Order: sequence, then C-alpha cells, then structure tokens
Amino acid sequence: MHSKEQISHDEYQKTADWLRSQTRHRPQVAIICGTGLGMLADALKCQDSFAYSDIPGFPLSTVHKAEQTADQRTDRKEPTKITTFPVRVFKLLGVKTLIVTNAAGALADGLQPGDIMIIKDHVNFPGLVGLNPLTGPNDDKFGPRFPAMSACYDKDLRCLAMDIAKQLGVSGLMQEGVYAMVGGPNFESIAEAKLLHRLGVDAVGMSTAPEVVVATHCGLRVFGLSLITNKVVKSYVDSDSVNHEDVLEVGRLRSQTVQQLVTEMISRMDINNNTTNNAV
Ligand code: HPA
Repeated sequence: MHSKEQISHDEYQKTADWLRSQTRHRPQVAIICGTGLGMLADALKCQDSFAYSDIPGFPLSTVHKAEQTADQRTDRKEPTKITTFPVRVFKLLGVKTLIVTNAAGALADGLQPGDIMIIKDHVNFPGLVGLNPLTGPNDDKFGPRFPAMSACYDKDLRCLAMDIAKQLGVSGLMQEGVYAMVGGPNFESIAEAKLLHRLGVDAVGMSTAPEVVVATHCGLRVFGLSLITNKVVKSYVDSDSVNHEDVLEVGRLRSQTVQQLVTEMISRMDINNNTTNNAV
C-alpha cells in the first residue's frame, strides 16, 4: 500500500509501457535539458517526440519547482518526487546513462559566463533539509534504502568530456567543479552567495540534484554539465544583478558547443561494450 504522497512502482511501469508501445527506439542514454538548453534535443536523428501532456503520469515541464507545486497533477506529492518521475521511467525503459544539464551562476572566481562546468559533486541543499525524492518507504526494486552518493558523477565520463573538449578546441571554457542546488525561485542574496562560496560551492542552480540522487539510487551512470550563465553577486559594491533573460541568452550563445560536446560524448561512450547514439 502506498500513501498518496508516494508514487507506486506500477505508476512508473505504466508510463514506461506506454512509451515502449509508442516507439521502436530502445534508448541507452537519457538527457535532461536545463533552462535554455532544450536545443540539445535537436541533435537527435530519427526522433519520436511526445508532448509531456500526452505521456501518462508525466509531470508538466515548468521552469521552477515553485510553479509545479501549483500544478493540479502534483496532487499532494512532494515536488522532488514529481520532477524525478522521468528518471525512474528511464530506468524501466532500459536506459543506462543519464546526462543532466543545467544553467548555473558562478561563485568560483575562475568561472565566467559562457564557461561549461563539468559537475564533479553536488550539495543538495533541499535534500539536506528533507526535501528528498527518496523519502518515504523505499522501493527496493529500484535501489537500497541508504544509497551512497560519494561517486554519483562518473569519473570516466568526466575524463571523456575533457578529452572531447580538447579535441573540439573548447577546453579553455571547461573545468570541473562542485554544483549546489538551492530551492529558488529567487536568485541568491549577497549574504547567501558569500555563504555558498565559503562552503566550497563553485556554481549554484535550482535543479538537477534530485534527479541525480534518484538516478544514482537506481544504478544509472550520471554525467552532469552546468552552463555558467552569470556570476553570482558576492559583494555589496557590485551593482550588477542577474535576471532570467541573461540566463537564456548565454544558453543561446553556447548552444552549439554544448550540443557538440554532448553528441560526441554519446557517440563515444562505452555502453555495455556497445557504442550507440540512441538517446531520449
Ligand atoms: N543562481 C541560482 N540559479 C541560477 C543562477 C544563479 O545565479 N543562474 C542560473 N541559474
């Protein structure tokens, strides 16, 4: 028996079965496109595409979690359980690797707007205070009650990304770093930015960590990229402040590079000793 806040295994299975009945593709890699990075899907050849609203059980795509709590379909379920729903569906579809991308603000002095940060580790602030998609009864069919998060961003894939960046001549734009997820939807105050920076965070955004937690729990291999869209204001003498339009603009500016990088990664990653470019 599942409480109303929980999503049952059957609900994930129903969605996966529906998708399998609608396409002959059997993807090995899934990509979650962050704010302003939806163009990653354009690189897919032979696509079958579905509107979120047509997929049974799928959450509607919104920019910020705050809007999702107002969505009728969320019922009484906790928002991170809704946003991570597709990850378990990917698992049931046979996906082995999840690629996550997001837009993030730079706290590290060495990161500039337009840079691409390979996520080495994360701080899941909502998770630390209990907004964690794995709360409630554990679904043992997906993974263990207390999963480790000490190696959630696959090292081989991080190395592969760096190699590819060199070949594409964009290694100057790329470095590894620690990503922190905050709840949003407001951008950080200066005191919050200073705090995050002191805690060792290189870039901050409002997404991704719950999906990575759920993917790691069910044994998916994860690769993550943050596109740095702005510098987070950390000083009271700065007059700059970030806005959503700037975030989208940097997405457009770097769309081709991010697309090339991700496409090349998928074609070169070793999936059960097969190289494939199937993705959803
Ligand atoms: N803070 C939080 N989320 C973000 C930012 C930021 O500065 N930029 C893009 N997403």
